[in-house]
Amino acid sequence: MGTEKEAVVVKGLEDVYVKESKLCLVDGEKGRLLYVGYDIRDLAERSSFEETCYLLWHFRLPGQDELETTRRGLAEERKLPKDILNLLKRLPKTTVPIDALRTAVSALAAYDPELADDSRDANLRKALRITAKVATIVAAFHRIREGAEDFLRMLSGKAPDPLDTKIMDVALILHADHSLNASTFGATVAASTLADLYSDVVAGIATLKGPLHGGANEQAVKMLLKIGSPANAEPYVEKALARGEKIPGFGHRVYKNFDPRALILRDYAKKLTQRGGDSTLLDTASAVQEVMLRNLQAKKIYPNVDFYSGVTYYLMGLPPDVFTPVFAVARVAGWAAHVMEYWQSNRIMRPLDLYVGPTDAAYVPIDRR
Ligand code: ACO
Repeated sequence: MGTEKEAVVVKGLEDVYVKESKLCLVDGEKGRLLYVGYDIRDLAERSSFEETCYLLWHFRLPGQDELETTRRGLAEERKLPKDILNLLKRLPKTTVPIDALRTAVSALAAYDPELADDSRDANLRKALRITAKVATIVAAFHRIREGAEDFLRMLSGKAPDPLDTKIMDVALILHADHSLNASTFGATVAASTLADLYSDVVAGIATLKGPLHGGANEQAVKMLLKIGSPANAEPYVEKALARGEKIPGFGHRVYKNFDPRALILRDYAKKLTQRGGDSTLLDTASAVQEVMLRNLQAKKIYPNVDFYSGVTYYLMGLPPDVFTPVFAVARVAGWAAHVMEYWQSNRIMRPLDLYVGPTDAAYVPIDRR
């Protein structure tokens, strides 16, 4: 099969559809993003992360009681088993937060009494539990590492101000889903074998980690800090492009226009800059954007969500290696939603690779090689 002449290899699965979904529309040409038909800009302004979770898991907005039940459920499920806290404490101090998260979610599976129950109701309860606990794991690991009731308070050890609270909620809404991105695909591949939801989420976290996907927010801000000032943006970017490097926080497989999430977060980064009084980071980001558009707009390369989420989280005081775990705190809702939807008409994911190796190798015993 794989060696047939007519076989077409689609590198990176570009433009290949592998399932239908009613969850998320990414209109890459217009720069539009919808969850179950609702525009992301409306959700960012008027919804909450809890309501967005309900929307993704039930394909409709909740009524007041349903929202309250979701809120209460998430709050009640935040607590981690002591063993998981101990596990986090025992990891080597050099462990990066995204690895700690992946490890802890994997271990957490053993503590869920419904792990093997594959009914939709049990999976909905597991989705809620994992979503609640992922946030706690990220915050707990950070506190353990730094030696510090909500996510921001858990991270910083102090009560967040209303602007930070609003921005974190918006960021979680914006990152909750994004159609069949690499990590959601990773989670779906695991799910397609009927592996349990925890295993699927672990696959999602593992796939999110890379700098070409969720890891780009950390890389983007590290690059901006290295550039240091708007005046350095042009020489830095032009040299990097001349060396054939990719600039983190730019480009996207689907968006051929501004990523609407980036634009929303850029507005919040402006508010944080006004509050903090130092505009160096945001000005440097604007200068990098300008140079990038000048060089690459013809190729339809625009800033993506990671460029401005990185700036925003940094201005909120989060350490860069926690940015990707925060992405996971939100995206776990989408991974669970896609997996549960896929299971409604599951088929194992099993693509092909085109074999281009030898076909006539003669085995030589080891003592004669
Ligand atoms: N910097 C410089 N050039 C770029 C960039 C970039 N960030 N992104 C794409 N290009 C160029 C490529 O070199 C290529 O040019 P060519 O046609 O002359 O060879 C062209 O634009 C198309 O890029 P591809 O690499 O083919 O795009 P692909 O869809 O395979 O990759 C990706 C998309 C991985 C996002 C890529 O743009 C990239 O590496 N960006 C930087 C990392 C990043 O920000 N990732 C986060 C994405 S958003 C998310 O996952 C949440």
